[in-house]
Amino acid sequence: MAKILVIYHSQGGNTKSAAKFVAQGAQAAGSRVELREAEKAKSKDLLECDGVAFGSPDYFNYIAGGLKDFFDRTFYPTQEKVAGKPYVAFITHGGGGKAKGSIELLCRIFKFKKIAETLLIKQRPDSAAIIQLKELGKKLAEKSTEKNHE
Ligand SMILES: Cc1cc2nc3c(=O)[nH]c(=O)nc-3n(C[C@H](O)[C@H](O)[C@H](O)COP(=O)(O)O)c2cc1C
Repeated sequence: MAKILVIYHSQGGNTKSAAKFVAQGAQAAGSRVELREAEKAKSKDLLECDGVAFGSPDYFNYIAGGLKDFFDRTFYPTQEKVAGKPYVAFITHGGGGKAKGSIELLCRIFKFKKIAETLLIKQRPDSAAIIQLKELGKKLAEKSTEKNHE
């Protein structure tokens, strides 16, 4: 059974809501899921999961500071140990969504393996977005069971 980490930052609740749907999708596909606020997550969480989903609001065309801080704290302790680990990402935004570029850049630097297009969700997920978010979680779960990062 794959272990999926869903890690997010959320100030107003939109990204938290999106993260819960990604987690539900992964769970429904048979994975064990840890849903973590970025501020509380540690390197160990990243090392121990089989696949990871990152969620962030778009703040000033960049990812939220809380999630950036997670990447900052975990880079050296996980360097070269997470290469090839499957990842997906989702951004909630107010009409822009340029933070997609920054999250994908960081994931490339960590050498995670992108297994689906990053989702852009406007504000709180609506019924169409909920389907996409659950599908994203399912895809991550399916790819992560293959343990293709080893
Ligand atoms: C400080 C701040 C900066 C923001 N900057 C942008 C932005 O550059 N582009 C954009 O599309 N939305 C921007 N927004 C809107 C948020 O991305 C959007 O409301 C998001 O869904 C908030 O997520 P949250 O409820 O999880 O905090 C900004 C919001 C805040 C509070």
